[in-house]
Amino acid sequence: MPTTPRHFLVDTDLTPAEQSEVLDLAEMMKRQRYSFKPLAGPQTGIVMFDKTSTRTRISFAAGLTELGGNPLIINPGESQLGHKESIYDSAKVFERMVSVVIWRTYAQSGINELAENSAIPVVNALTDDYHPCQVLADLQTVREHRGSTQGLVMTYLGDAANNMANSYLLGGATAGMHVRIAGPEGYLPDEAIVAAAQARAQETGGSITVTTDASQALEAADVVVTDTWISMGQEDETEQRLKLFEAYSVDSEAIAQAADNAIFLHCLPAYREYEVSSEVIDGPQSRVFDEAENRLHAQKALIAWLLYASGLAEIPEELILPLAEASRGQVQ
Ligand code: CP
Ligand code: NVA
Repeated sequence: MPTTPRHFLVDTDLTPAEQSEVLDLAEMMKRQRYSFKPLAGPQTGIVMFDKTSTRTRISFAAGLTELGGNPLIINPGESQLGHKESIYDSAKVFERMVSVVIWRTYAQSGINELAENSAIPVVNALTDDYHPCQVLADLQTVREHRGSTQGLVMTYLGDAANNMANSYLLGGATAGMHVRIAGPEGYLPDEAIVAAAQARAQETGGSITVTTDASQALEAADVVVTDTWISMGQEDETEQRLKLFEAYSVDSEAIAQAADNAIFLHCLPAYREYEVSSEVIDGPQSRVFDEAENRLHAQKALIAWLLYASGLAEIPEELILPLAEASRGQVQ
């Protein structure tokens, strides 16, 4: 049994084949919601928040419970971590008591340090740089509505330098998608992230386009996505941001430039009439509540998969064959 824990800190921590396995497992978990109990005991999972949350908190709390475990939610300011105690010491305490640590925090370096010192899986529940669990749920939603992610065009409009844009680049490329990211000059993704996404896209047959031209990005897109223009921690910049991103709003005119059967996704919370119009988010192409529900299934699958891959839980017999088949069918 391997003893090195597997973590999910950034989208590319899963290879294309592994991401596909997790998404297959998510589909199974959605169909047989209460059948898989890798956290039976109950074992505890910590879900720590340095920023506020609705979906992430509820989906991890329900998900850990449905996996047979016990969620321990730690709200902002409730633990010693970060102010009274080092990340290293916290990691050493956590691994003696619980089976998985899920953390929503600011700096990516913090969660990376926690994982480096942890004998149990660490999961990124959003940092300033990435929101990989959200993108897993988005990919599950795309699969449900299109059968597959391979070769589809996914277009993101808005703050192209935020955590969602980065995770769409890396997670979408891992899923073999043609990812197009459009935002204003000065708010485009970091070159290193674009290069990592391009490298991943070369493996999977996907591609990456970064542009300031919203219309170019939208042309015949299969999936249109956006996110708030003001991420948590950027509230002081509200006034300037509302002006900056105006041309990247997903309204009826924008969605009409995408494919006729395009679907619209948004990680939520949404600010109607800013990054998306009510007409679009409440319209027939919107799948935002399927997407929100899929946070539950995708994260349950992810946690089970990380525990199996770390040798910390037995893979149930009924999953051994489907998981092996998923690996065989994919580009590595
Ligand atoms: N999409 C998402 O992560 O929502 P919350 O901030 O409510 O958790
Ligand atoms: N970009 C947003 C995502 C919220 C789920 C933020 O970081 O606030």
